[in-house]
Amino acid sequence: MEFKFDIEENKEQIIAFKEFLDSKKDTPGPLMPSLQRAQDVFGYLPKEMLEVISRKLSIPMAEIYGVATFYSQFSFIPTGKNKISVCLGTACYVKGAQSILEEIETQLGIKSGETTKDEVFSIASARCVGDCSIAPVILVNEDVYAKVKKDDIAEILAKYN
Ligand code: FES
Repeated sequence: MEFKFDIEENKEQIIAFKEFLDSKKDTPGPLMPSLQRAQDVFGYLPKEMLEVISRKLSIPMAEIYGVATFYSQFSFIPTGKNKISVCLGTACYVKGAQSILEEIETQLGIKSGETTKDEVFSIASARCVGDCSIAPVILVNEDVYAKVKKDDIAEILAKYN
C-alpha cells in the first residue's frame, strides 16, 4: 500500500526536524537519534525524511535503511490509529490463531505488517503475550480479547471503526 507523505501538511515539523539534524551532524553517532526523532515526529519513517537525513548527515541511504530495518521500533509506513496484534505463539497457534489472522486480513483488506488506507487499523503478529490460558488472544491497542473465534472478528473491529 502506497502512502503519500504530505510535505505541505508537515511543513513545520520538517523545519524543526532539519534544525535537529543540523544540531546532530557534528556529534558522534547521529543516525540513531535522528531516526528516533523522525519516528516520533512523523509516526513512521517517510522516505523523504530518510533522504533529508542522508543529505544532512552525509550517510548513504543503504546504510540508513540497513539500520532502520534492523530495529523493530522503526516503521516505514504510518501506523494505524488502532493497532491489532494477533498472538502467533504456540498456544494460540494450535488453537487457530493463523486463521484468526487471515480473517482479520480479509476483513480489512490488508496483510499483517500493513495499515489500512484510511489509517484506522494496522495489523501485526506477536509472539506469546503471556495469556496462554485464554488462547487464542488478540490485542487491539491495550484491549485483550480472549478465546477469539473467526465469527467474533467483525464485532471486534466494529468497536474501533
Ligand atoms: S501463545 Fe498466545 S498468549 Fe501465549
